Amino acid sequence: MQLKYDVIIVGSGLAGIWTALNLDKKLKVLVLTKSKVWGCNSFYAQGGVTVAKDEKDIPFHIEDTMIAGSYHNDKKMVELLSQKSLSVIDDIEKLGFRFDRDEKGNILFTREGAHSKNRIVHAGGDATGREIHKFVFNKDKSFFIDEAVVFDLLIEDNKCYGVSVLQNNKKMNIYANSVVIASGGVGGLYKFDTNANTISGDMQGLCTLKNIKLKDMEMTQFHPTVYVQMKTAQKLLLSESLRGEGAKVVDQNKKRFLFDYDERGELASRDIVSRAIYDYKQRGNEVFLDFSEWNEKFLAKRFPTIYYKLRDLGYNIPNDLVPISPAFHYMMGGIEVEENSKIKNFKNLYAVGEVACTGIHGANRLASNSLLECFVFGKICAEDINKNISEIDKRFKINEEILKKENDKFYKNQLREIMWKNVGIIRDEKNLLKALNFVEKTIPKLGRITKLRFLTAKEIIKSALNRKESLGAHYRKD
Ligand code: SIN
Repeated sequence: MQLKYDVIIVGSGLAGIWTALNLDKKLKVLVLTKSKVWGCNSFYAQGGVTVAKDEKDIPFHIEDTMIAGSYHNDKKMVELLSQKSLSVIDDIEKLGFRFDRDEKGNILFTREGAHSKNRIVHAGGDATGREIHKFVFNKDKSFFIDEAVVFDLLIEDNKCYGVSVLQNNKKMNIYANSVVIASGGVGGLYKFDTNANTISGDMQGLCTLKNIKLKDMEMTQFHPTVYVQMKTAQKLLLSESLRGEGAKVVDQNKKRFLFDYDERGELASRDIVSRAIYDYKQRGNEVFLDFSEWNEKFLAKRFPTIYYKLRDLGYNIPNDLVPISPAFHYMMGGIEVEENSKIKNFKNLYAVGEVACTGIHGANRLASNSLLECFVFGKICAEDINKNISEIDKRFKINEEILKKENDKFYKNQLREIMWKNVGIIRDEKNLLKALNFVEKTIPKLGRITKLRFLTAKEIIKSALNRKESLGAHYRKD
């Protein structure tokens, strides 16, 4: 059987589904998802969606984004992001979605680190990603195939004709006139991470095999406040909006030590807060999040996901201090794309969301600019496809490489340890070279699917080695 669609979207997070929703209704669209449809980072996003509050706020939103990104951002793209943010609330609310409001019906805006004002909209309290994802998924009429692992891109002469997929232990090629990569970031490469279990950078690794350029891969963001003392690979994010609304970071003596590192304390940008917490812990201290600003009723209403999760884990908040650690959270780098989300030097191949590098985040993403990115660039991508789609046809032989090998899991776990230790918050040449040596030595032993994540790790390490000076989230101590 030969499957052919107008558009294939690889990934079922907000970037992918928002692209699908904005495509011309005449197009036959297939969304491929590696696990279940909710196995994506958007589903776990807590804080919210950043929007410029009005025309007057645009320069401030741009400046906050650029300061957080250490001015490594592409200013033109940041301007585009901010300008387009003005219509995001309307775009989704006109479909029936509701952001959280006060009793008079005014939208509530929260704040997170490095924002100069409250401009983040949220839903379901701290369940913004889940609420949005559930809503857009229910609206979308695309075909979905789940448990489908993409292991090849069918490319000839810089045109993409489709993808190769493993599903139910069967390999198949699926063809399309346009392909959109929306597969998310790289959390699974790190021992401690906040990402959905499916997120492991496979598509970025595949891109390296297809001469597709990755950019800024050394720019990995670590979230400062994560509860990591749980067995699951995915750790519990404690949203930055907690700090935005009054939670404090304290040590074993209840000292708010972050002010010793930056005058903005808990609300400095993420790279600074993460490094400060990491450094303070290395000096033998314990670090906690203190919720005592609020009573239980407020917490259960405003931050229900976090409140109930911590209660299940045995914490009696707001009375108990909750131990925290930084953990890998977000990849600023990725597949280099043009303004229309098209992958540089390719004709009908796009990338959107975390997997793409538009240049908007620079060296450190401003909090809650990521769901915004999904909305803005998902729509831009869909509009470009709607205008330019044309019929293409070519058949490819199935790639015969062995996809899985017996020891893949063992090596994956080793990689997670090594990336956390050697390619984490604080880096130096000696440790980066050790990590590179491990990755290069291991690649020939792996099945193709695990090899893809190792290739991505290799790109991160090589980029980190190449950038000798510290910048934003990339910190070199040597
Ligand atoms: C958070 O709620 O702290 C995460 C939001 C984000 O990553 O932008």
